[in-house]
Amino acid sequence: MTEQPIYILAIESSCDDTAAAVLQNGKVLSNVVARQSVHEEYGGVVPELASRAHQQNIVPVVDVALNKANISRNQLNAIAFTQGPGLMGSLLVGSSFAKSMAQALNIPLIAVNHMQAHILAHFIDEEGYDKPEFPFLALTISGGHTQIVKVNSYFDMEVIGETTDDAVGEAFDKSAKILGLPYPGGPLVDKYAQEGNPKAFPFTKPNVPGLNFSFSGLKTQILYFVQKRTAEDTTFIENNMKDICASIQYTIIKILMDKIKQAVKDTGIKQVAIGGGVSANSGIRNAMKEAEKKYGWKTFIPKFEYTTDNAAMIGIVGYHKYLEQMFNDFSVVSKARIAL
Ligand code: KG4
Ligand code: ZN
Repeated sequence: MTEQPIYILAIESSCDDTAAAVLQNGKVLSNVVARQSVHEEYGGVVPELASRAHQQNIVPVVDVALNKANISRNQLNAIAFTQGPGLMGSLLVGSSFAKSMAQALNIPLIAVNHMQAHILAHFIDEEGYDKPEFPFLALTISGGHTQIVKVNSYFDMEVIGETTDDAVGEAFDKSAKILGLPYPGGPLVDKYAQEGNPKAFPFTKPNVPGLNFSFSGLKTQILYFVQKRTAEDTTFIENNMKDICASIQYTIIKILMDKIKQAVKDTGIKQVAIGGGVSANSGIRNAMKEAEKKYGWKTFIPKFEYTTDNAAMIGIVGYHKYLEQMFNDFSVVSKARIAL
């Protein structure tokens, strides 16, 4: 029997990227992201500017997603959107749009948790990518979150470790800012790190009990270190950029890997998936591949375009919710904070 095609339009607008995707069952037909460069000069996302840019981008981004997928509005079976967590003004643009469109087309509306979506992105049908089996561990690492999650089924997830202060993406971005790099600095730290010596400048790892993380101490340590060395030599940063970045990245990856190793030990689960913007990082990708060989884990690293914020991941959750008839009525509200 052939599978009946289910077409989902997904919308993601939780932070500074306006994104839309169309999925046919588990397969992505289109995945469009409009990035907002307006925040670069401010060194971080400005919420007011983000919501205004979403307003401008959302209609064209959805149109492009439908056109690329070669799907007309009338073929859609449901509309999925990001309910939270995220910036309220940004979330409201996506949810209002999704509600209006679902109402106009008289099709179901599906609210999606952004963090669940980063994890379930691994269930997108993609050639050459295996899907994890339940239960598995997920390390979600982004600009807003750092969590270790025990994933028991599509909608049964347990947070077993998380950051007590900054998210790992913030650790990358704030370190980059200290070095005078533009926002978001994570990818730039990664780029320089690949040509530097990770042992050049030793930074100490924080001592946090259990499976929790802390990154604010590391940021302060880097700040004092850079201030001290720059006071001695004003060209310190420019002459050592690659080594500084490599040393920062090495420390951050060591913090993440030590905790995930502990989580594997504690739970006996050897399937480990990473998700969220920071899983684009070359250091964490290499460390996961090494751990696969060294400890016999099975690791899952998403395709690059499904790591940073995107709507395809919202669509795959939408599809699985559609199969379970997990629909929302139009009174559903956006939430800046929302549990898994
Ligand atoms: O998931 P995401 O796109 O948005 C949030 O939900 O936060 O994650 C964005 C974060 C930013 O902090 C960015 O600097 C970081 O992911 N990031 C990276 C890399 N690519 C993106 N951090 C380190 N290395 C990268 N290659
Ligand atoms: Zn995200």
